[in-house]
Amino acid sequence: MIPNDFIQTLLSRVDIVDVIERYVPLKKAGANFAACCPFHNEKSPSFTVSPTKQFYHCFGCGAHGTAIGFLIEHAGMTFPEAVEQLAQQVGLTVPRAAAGTESAGPRKDELTYLSDLLDAAATYYKNQLRATPRAIDYLKQRGLTGEIAARFRLGFAPDGWQNLETAVPDYGDKAMETAGLVIIGDGGRRYDRFRDRIMFPITDAQGRIIGFGGRVLDHGEPKYLNSPETPLFIKGRELYGLFQARHAIRDAGNVIVVEGYMDAVALAQQGVEYVVATLGTATTGDHVKKLFRQADRIVFCFDGDAAGQRAAWRALENALPALTDGKEAAFLFLPEEHDPDSYVREFGRAAFEELLGEAMPLSDYFIRELERRHAPATAEGRAALVTAAKPYFESLAAPVLRLLLKKRLADTVGLTETELAPLLPAAIQKPLLPPSNGPESTRRSGSSRGSRAPGVQAQTAAGPYLAIIRYLLQRPSLATSFVEASPKHPSREARALNVLLAHLREHGEPTLATGPLVEALQNTEFGAIYQRTSRLIADMGDTGEDEAAFLDALTRYRIFEQKFSQHQELSRRNDDQL
Ligand code: UTP
Ligand code: MN
Repeated sequence: MIPNDFIQTLLSRVDIVDVIERYVPLKKAGANFAACCPFHNEKSPSFTVSPTKQFYHCFGCGAHGTAIGFLIEHAGMTFPEAVEQLAQQVGLTVPRAAAGTESAGPRKDELTYLSDLLDAAATYYKNQLRATPRAIDYLKQRGLTGEIAARFRLGFAPDGWQNLETAVPDYGDKAMETAGLVIIGDGGRRYDRFRDRIMFPITDAQGRIIGFGGRVLDHGEPKYLNSPETPLFIKGRELYGLFQARHAIRDAGNVIVVEGYMDAVALAQQGVEYVVATLGTATTGDHVKKLFRQADRIVFCFDGDAAGQRAAWRALENALPALTDGKEAAFLFLPEEHDPDSYVREFGRAAFEELLGEAMPLSDYFIRELERRHAPATAEGRAALVTAAKPYFESLAAPVLRLLLKKRLADTVGLTETELAPLLPAAIQKPLLPPSNGPESTRRSGSSRGSRAPGVQAQTAAGPYLAIIRYLLQRPSLATSFVEASPKHPSREARALNVLLAHLREHGEPTLATGPLVEALQNTEFGAIYQRTSRLIADMGDTGEDEAAFLDALTRYRIFEQKFSQHQELSRRNDDQL
C-alpha cells in the first residue's frame, strides 16, 4: 500500500504539464495548455491541461485525470509504476512500509533530498519566468517558443538575495549550500547563487535535476553562472539536454555535441533534437563513452572561433580511447562568425543537417590538424609530425581505424607503412617492451650495452605506467586493487605513478573525481603528466569489462617491472664479473 499522504505530496511536487509534455506536444492556450487529444482521433485540439488545477480534461471524449492517471491511461503503466516513475522524476522515495507503521513523510537519503531541493527551485524559477515579461521577451527574441521552454524546463531567477526562501522548506538548511543553490558570504549571511538570470536546469539521463546554468539577460559578467560540482553533479560526466534528446538520438543513430546551452536548445527548437551540450568543460572520455552507448556516430559541432578549434581537438583526444571500429566521430566546423545557435536560426534546419552530412571524419581532422601544426614541407616538420602523432596512437585501440590512420600518416610524411611502423607505439593492449632491449640481449652483449639499456628502456617504458596512471586517475578507488610492488623503473612515468599511488594511499579511501584529483596533484613534480593523462583518459565506466582492462594493465605492469629488475640484476652481475 502506498500511503495516501504520499500520493498527495507527490502530486503537489509534480507538474502535470511536464509529465504530459513528454508524450504530447502542448501549446499554450490562455491559462491552460492544449493539444489534439491522445485518447481519441481529432483534428482540432480539445484536450486541455490545467497547470493550476493539475489535471487534464478532454472536451471531446471526456478523458480526465491527474498526472498519475495520465501515465496509467496513456503510457499503460500500472498504478505503482506510475507513482514510482513520478516519484523518481521529482526525487522522492516511495515509502514501502506497510500502511500504518510509517509516520509522517517519506525518509529520503541525502542525494534524493538534494535533488528535491533543486526540483523545488526549478519549479519556482519556472513560475517566475511565467510572471516576468522581460525574461519571456528575452527568450522570444532568441527565437524560443513556450513549448521548447517547457520542454527544457527553462526558468527565471529574479533579482534579490533570498528569493528561494519561499520555494523550499528550509532555506537555512546546510543542504541548500551543498546543492549549490545558496552561497554563504562573509559573516555567514546566506544568499541565492542565481539572481536575475535565465535558468537552464541540468538533468541526469533520467530527467532528475542535478544542477543549473544561469544566463544574464544583458551583457553582465559572467555570462553564464553554473552550479558548482556537488555530490549530484559531476560536470565531466553529464551532458546538457541528454534527457530531452534521448529518443531522437536513438532514432537518428546520431548525436551532435555542442558547447552551449543555447546551442542545444536552439537546435531542438528548429527540430534538430538529437543534440547535447557539454557544460562549460571540455568533452571528456566519459561523455564520449556515454554517447556511444546510444548512437554510432557523434558529430562535434563547435564554434568557428579559436576556442572552438581548441575544444574540437580536446574532443578528439578524448574520443580516441573510446572509439571502437563501427563507431564514428566527425567534426563540423561552422563559419567563423557562427555558433550552432546563430547558424541554425539564420539558415534553418535543412541547411544545418546538410552540413552535418558533410562533417569532417575524425581521421581527416586528425591528419589535417597535425599538418597544420607541423608543416610536412621539411624533413624536420615531418619528424615533428610523427612525434606529435605518437601519443594518439597509443590511446587508440580500434584496430581498423588504427590501421587506416597509420596509412594516412605514412602518406602524409612520405614514408612507407613498414618504415613508419617501428616509430609508432603499439596499441596499449600489446606488450611494450621490444625483445631486443630485454635481458637476453643484455647478456649477449655484455655490460657496456647493459648499462646503457635503462636509458633506452626509459623511452619505451611509458606505456604500462601511463596506463595504470590513467586508470587510477579515472577511478581512484582502484588504488586499493593495486597490490603490486611500487614501481622501480627510473622513467618519469614510473615515478609519476609512484607519486600518484603515495598520494592516493595517504588520502585514504579515495572518492575524488578525476578533476579535483588532478588539481590536487598539479603542483607535484609530475603535474603535467597527470594533466596530459587526464585528457587522454579512457572512460572506464562501471562495467566489469573495465575492471578486466585494469587487471590486464596490471599484468603488463608486472611483466615490465619484472623484466626491468631481472635486467638490473643481470647488469649488476655482469659489472661484478668485470
Ligand atoms: P559561449 O560564450 O559560446 O556562449 O559559451 P553561448 O553558448 O553562445 O551563449 P549565448 O548564445 O551567448 O547565450 C558556451 C558555453 O560555455 C559555458 C556555458 O556552458 C556556455 O553555454 N560558459 C560560457 C560558462 O560556463 N560561463 C561563461 O561565462 C560563458
Ligand atoms: Mn551563442
